[in-house]
Amino acid sequence: MPLSQNCSNLQNANHGFFGFLKIFFALDRKTDLDQGLREIERITMRSRKIVLKMNKTVGYIIMKTALISGITGQDGAYLAEFLLQKGYFVWGLKRRTSLFNTDRIDHLIKDVHESNTHFNFLYADMTDSTNLIRVIQDTQPDEIYNLAAQSHVKVSFDTPEYTANTDGLGTLRILEAVRLLGMTEKTKIYQASTSELFGQVQEVPQTEKTPFYPRSPYAVAKLYAYWITVNYREAYGMFACNGVLFNHESPIRGETFVTRKITRGLAHIALGLQKKLYLGNLNAKRDWGHAKDFIEAMYLVLQQNKPDDYVIATGITTEIREFVRKAFIRIGINIKFIGNDVEEKGIIDTIDLNQFESVVGVPPAHLSIGQVLIAVDPTYFRPTDVNLLIGDATKARKQLGWQPKYSLDDLIDEMVLSDLEQALRKKYLKKSGFIVRQSLEE
Ligand code: NAP
Ligand code: GDD
Repeated sequence: MPLSQNCSNLQNANHGFFGFLKIFFALDRKTDLDQGLREIERITMRSRKIVLKMNKTVGYIIMKTALISGITGQDGAYLAEFLLQKGYFVWGLKRRTSLFNTDRIDHLIKDVHESNTHFNFLYADMTDSTNLIRVIQDTQPDEIYNLAAQSHVKVSFDTPEYTANTDGLGTLRILEAVRLLGMTEKTKIYQASTSELFGQVQEVPQTEKTPFYPRSPYAVAKLYAYWITVNYREAYGMFACNGVLFNHESPIRGETFVTRKITRGLAHIALGLQKKLYLGNLNAKRDWGHAKDFIEAMYLVLQQNKPDDYVIATGITTEIREFVRKAFIRIGINIKFIGNDVEEKGIIDTIDLNQFESVVGVPPAHLSIGQVLIAVDPTYFRPTDVNLLIGDATKARKQLGWQPKYSLDDLIDEMVLSDLEQALRKKYLKKSGFIVRQSLEE
């Protein structure tokens, strides 16, 4: 049988175990296996179907295929990298944007024309059922990680209907696509649920049994997504799970979430690119972990024998004010908060010159004791906010064997150093006469 015919068999093959056997025996008759595998990879990439990988010592293995919605986001990027290291073929779903927005995953993208590319993306939008059905059909994933969302709580008050459509109905669209395509036995689904579901907390700390009390259009949309995931699991026996993740951050966290806003603002202030940082509710407390730890939990949730829901958290909560202090201490600046409510300010109490210079690389000539670095801008207040979150991840620890490796100090350290590096680049550009613009949202 000519190789091209084998390959078209491959395209038509049922992707289950028997499909694999068909391919295996067809290939076995060929003499030039390497050429055959190269051809298969090439055609597979084109036809966006499964990929075979040859392991010379063990024989043939089928790579697991993961489909990640929200691939351009913080978690999508870390998860893609993690699954690729585990030997998965990863498909990312990306919506169309008018500018490039693949910064977080560019290092994973090889030229799709190269062989051995195990990462690729397809265009899809969570508000469009038909294209979700098509991409799930085309990619035949073993695991779907539904991470796509309008994930900003404050923005959800401005775009409540869109948020409901993307974050709530988007989840239904994925579940329903898997069901309609007859893939309920094959495909496991991870739903990115959130500690925002606890909202006005009914219990401290929050566990899988704590009642929900959502406090934003975002959280209400995610509440629908949580329950529709549970419902599809119970109604259709699907392997569909919720990870109820508490806040997790990193150097690639979106710039408008409070932790990144602080470390970025700090870096700009330290290098003289910005005078002050405006924040909203300083009283809120969050249970912050590192995104790298949290994406591992997502993976573990789908590797269990039975589908279930898990709280993922560090168990330590910290006030926004304290996060500010901890971040500035890293560069030798001790911040003191004075005043109340909208008049509250964070001023420089002391500066450790050696620490500043050793971390920032230049002396703090433009900074002085008593200078106001933090101010409150009510624009950042939410109509209803979540004041306290602290999770109890005992179930995840016991059943998944999950526990975080990063402390909050490690996280802050990484974020501060990374943002200093980026600010330094800006400073060099500015110094060399290039125009450095500030974003509208800074
Ligand atoms: P993120 O950085 O804001 O990423 C969100 C991703 O969703 C981006 O890739 C975004 O694409 C995509 N997206 C938004 N609307 C879409 C649409 N209509 N169609 C297709 N894609 C769309 O969020 P994250 O921090 O990585 O969080 C990942 C998921 O976990 C989200 O569902 C979030 O709600 C949830 N979660 C996050 C945390 C946390 O602390 N990070 C905690 C609990 C739950 P663009 O790049 O084009 O905008
Ligand atoms: N974004 C922002 N900007 N938040 C501020 C600011 C500010 O200038 N000042 C104070 N805050 C307060 C917010 O009012 C909130 O109480 C807290 O800081 C955290 O805000 P965010 O960092 O925006 O995160 P979030 O907790 O609202 O939501 C994040 O975590 C959820 C999990 O609990 C997002 O990642 C959600 O997608 C995620 O579900």
